[in-house]
Amino acid sequence: MKVEFGLLDIEMKDYNNYNKPDLNSARKRLNKETATIYYESNPLYKDLGKGKTYHILTYGCQGNEADSEVMAGIFEELGYKYQENVEEADVVLLNTCAIRENAENRIWGVLGNLKAPKRMKKDMIIGICGCMPQEEKVVDTLLQKYREIDLVFGTHNIYKLPEFLHEIYKHHDRVVEVLSYEGSIIEALPKIRASKHKAWVNIMYGCDEFCTYCIVPYTRGKERSRNKDDIIAEVKCLVKEGYKEVTLLGQNVNAYGKDLEGDYTFGDLLYDLDKTGIQRIRYTTSHPRDLDMKTIYAMRDCKSVMPSLHLPVQSGDDVVLKRMNRKYTFDEYMAKIKALKENIPGISLTTDIIVAFPGETEEQFLNTLKLVQEVGYEGAFTFIYSPREGTPAAKYPNPMTEEEKHDRLNRLNVLINEGYKKGHDRFLGKEVLVLVDGYSKTNKELMTGYSEHNKVVNFIPKNAKIGDIVKVKITEAKTWFMNGEEVD
Ligand code: 5AD
Ligand code: SF4
Repeated sequence: MKVEFGLLDIEMKDYNNYNKPDLNSARKRLNKETATIYYESNPLYKDLGKGKTYHILTYGCQGNEADSEVMAGIFEELGYKYQENVEEADVVLLNTCAIRENAENRIWGVLGNLKAPKRMKKDMIIGICGCMPQEEKVVDTLLQKYREIDLVFGTHNIYKLPEFLHEIYKHHDRVVEVLSYEGSIIEALPKIRASKHKAWVNIMYGCDEFCTYCIVPYTRGKERSRNKDDIIAEVKCLVKEGYKEVTLLGQNVNAYGKDLEGDYTFGDLLYDLDKTGIQRIRYTTSHPRDLDMKTIYAMRDCKSVMPSLHLPVQSGDDVVLKRMNRKYTFDEYMAKIKALKENIPGISLTTDIIVAFPGETEEQFLNTLKLVQEVGYEGAFTFIYSPREGTPAAKYPNPMTEEEKHDRLNRLNVLINEGYKKGHDRFLGKEVLVLVDGYSKTNKELMTGYSEHNKVVNFIPKNAKIGDIVKVKITEAKTWFMNGEEVD
């Protein structure tokens, strides 16, 4: 049977023949061009959620946060209302992360906690989506051990949420559909943005880097760039709505455009977005190999592109970098850092680092510490390597004890925390521009926001309102934030 889905014509699935993921298919990169489809809501599902409520629990990266905004948009379009209390919601969705084992363990815990409310409220629908269901093993466990789950879908078919809900109501059975191919880019999906002045803007999806430790190329599929005109139109629209800041999102934003015809790159996009009138542009995440001079020049030339950059290095040792398949060396990375510092004086640099990658020796770890010192990072996310089934590194022998792994992480964190503090000290007595997010949670007389260099600033307000960009004089520098007062 065929069913109309906006502009899509899709085969009606028998959802009981579980459509499960398969890592071997997910690994494939078929060089097919990605089609773009403009979403239109299907009148068939118009009042599906009338009188019902939803709650979305989001874990993981900004990509998941952006996806949850789309799911909230779909729910509201169907007539559902947001319910703050998870246990009272008619539909609860868990948007999950698979990047490390502890991220997954947390989610298994949350699922366990939802068993009791579901027993009390039999018609509650519990759904799980995002990166975890893209793993074969996870779906097997869900199907065998978690009968209370009604809906399982992945990262490639969020736009089918209305159809999945419709099927559950109709057949009173669970729906499982996880695709291991990416399909099209779906534009014009509804969205309920979490903030009125800062917005996520996806510029591309997926990743083709295949770092040997990482599950993302399997869970998020191949690199697919949105058309530049769609991105520019979205940002122009945000400017009209009063948004002050956009964060451009992608697993590897520097690869933007590689899959499109022509030679338009990420740097070109930055120059074009600067002309939209948006006041602040940030972007994440970058891959050092693909960070090019045009991007660095755009950061130098465009007033709206903020002087901070998250540039994950992962390790400072050439042998480890090679075994991670990062495709750059210590020296090549340092050359990019030099170009960044020369062109964007005062730039604030942050990074991601993995310690205890299989086979990492003490000497190799020390090379990471050396690199951290040479760069002078002002922040970092640091992780102990976590094996992900199906990735090449999961098969590498790793004889290190848990104690050794934690010892390396602790030694690294001492340096990183010093970097945070130094990054704040340099602004003592200076005036910085802060985009105001709201009132401080611990002291209602203070407001809080982010400076251009992406530092948390708490300050005594004068005239500041949420969403304003105000001048703040820094009076105190701590490790995790700075304090100050608004000046005219
Ligand atoms: N183990 C530990 N850290 C990982 N990351 C990605 N995969 C793993 C893994 N298997 C880290 C990397 C990446 C960040 C988002 O998560 O540092 O940049
Ligand atoms: Fe994972 Fe590497 Fe892609 Fe980042 S660049 S998402 S670490 S595979």
